[in-house]
Amino acid sequence: MPYRTLRDLDLRGKRVLLREDLNVPLDKQTGAVTDTTRLRAAIPTIRYLQRQGAKVILLSHLGRPEGKPNPKLSLAPVARELSNLLGEGVEFVPDTIGEQAKQAVAALQPGEVLLLENVRFFPGEEQNDPRFAQALAALGDVYVNDAFGTAHRAHASTAGVAQYLPSAAGLLMEKELHALGSILENPRRPLVAVIGGAKISTKIGVLEHLLDRVNALLIGGGMANTFLKAQGCEIGRSLVENDQVPTARDLMDRTEQRGIDLLLPTDVVVADRVEAGATTRTVRVEQVPPDQFIVDIGPETAERFGEVIRTAGTIFWNGPMGVFEIPEFAAGTRRIAELIATSNATSVIGGGESVAAVEQLGLADKMTHVSTGGGATLEFLEGRELPGVKALEAR
Ligand code: 3PG
Repeated sequence: MPYRTLRDLDLRGKRVLLREDLNVPLDKQTGAVTDTTRLRAAIPTIRYLQRQGAKVILLSHLGRPEGKPNPKLSLAPVARELSNLLGEGVEFVPDTIGEQAKQAVAALQPGEVLLLENVRFFPGEEQNDPRFAQALAALGDVYVNDAFGTAHRAHASTAGVAQYLPSAAGLLMEKELHALGSILENPRRPLVAVIGGAKISTKIGVLEHLLDRVNALLIGGGMANTFLKAQGCEIGRSLVENDQVPTARDLMDRTEQRGIDLLLPTDVVVADRVEAGATTRTVRVEQVPPDQFIVDIGPETAERFGEVIRTAGTIFWNGPMGVFEIPEFAAGTRRIAELIATSNATSVIGGGESVAAVEQLGLADKMTHVSTGGGATLEFLEGRELPGVKALEAR
């Protein structure tokens, strides 16, 4: 492993600056945390540090306050939720590098946990300003980066601070890198990628990188429409990226040349409007009416995908199969989630919306790994170096 882990550090009695990605969604009205996935994912590292007798100083961003304090993006509600989940108090101070933060750190006892205010309230965070990184480093003896979800950002608290302190990856960071790394390096075969979501343009990097590695590629969601168009199908009023039709055609040619099984929808659910309460029906892809929208894969497609999923050794899934947030259009996504959950394959779910789908369906526990990253997961699978990980290697 090119970076140090928690096991490599002497942590007893040390002030440990622990960068987590506590960037969780908040209810617009009440300000309460609406999804605790990332908080729960941070707990193993916090507990490990507590058991080692470390003083835990948590750092995180929340939202995009653009370098200015913004009370709506305070981490205070996150501290409350984290306390509930940990079953003990997480102290919070509305300060990050000032006197109040310094005093709270100085008062911290081994095993105690303190959360400082949103690091993005300072312009130096996103600019990776060495002065801000040094001010953060002055609060700790050791730096641990567990914020995989933010590892694609070269910011002061994710990268810069590692220059000034002995540094290591946290348990979540290690787990993410191991699970996602196992897709790119030596996966149990066949390796099957199930890719959905609205647009090819946001997934092209991942598709390109996976093309050298996968045995089968199953495509659904809005992006499948662009492939269907490249195949010569009429797709009615469905979402399509006309400028990506040549890309889709090129990917189809290359999968064929390499002997990769490329599965596209053969039947789809169409609707008269993309809203709850719309009238839906299932049609063959050659028969999408001109006034309709494709909103989901059809049952035949889901079962064809299922045949490949059942024989997979490793499955990577990113992106829903349709507009799953509208219940009438969610059946395809639900079926694919169930098929992956019940397969014997190593299953890795990456990226925001497919993770939300798996969580909503209560299937997260059935998957080998559910990634906490959105952009970070995609960039990792594009084969790009993540600055947050690179910074740990440099020490
Ligand atoms: C995320 O939610 O993907 C991470 O927390 C990173 O947030 P950002 O896109 O605002 O940098």
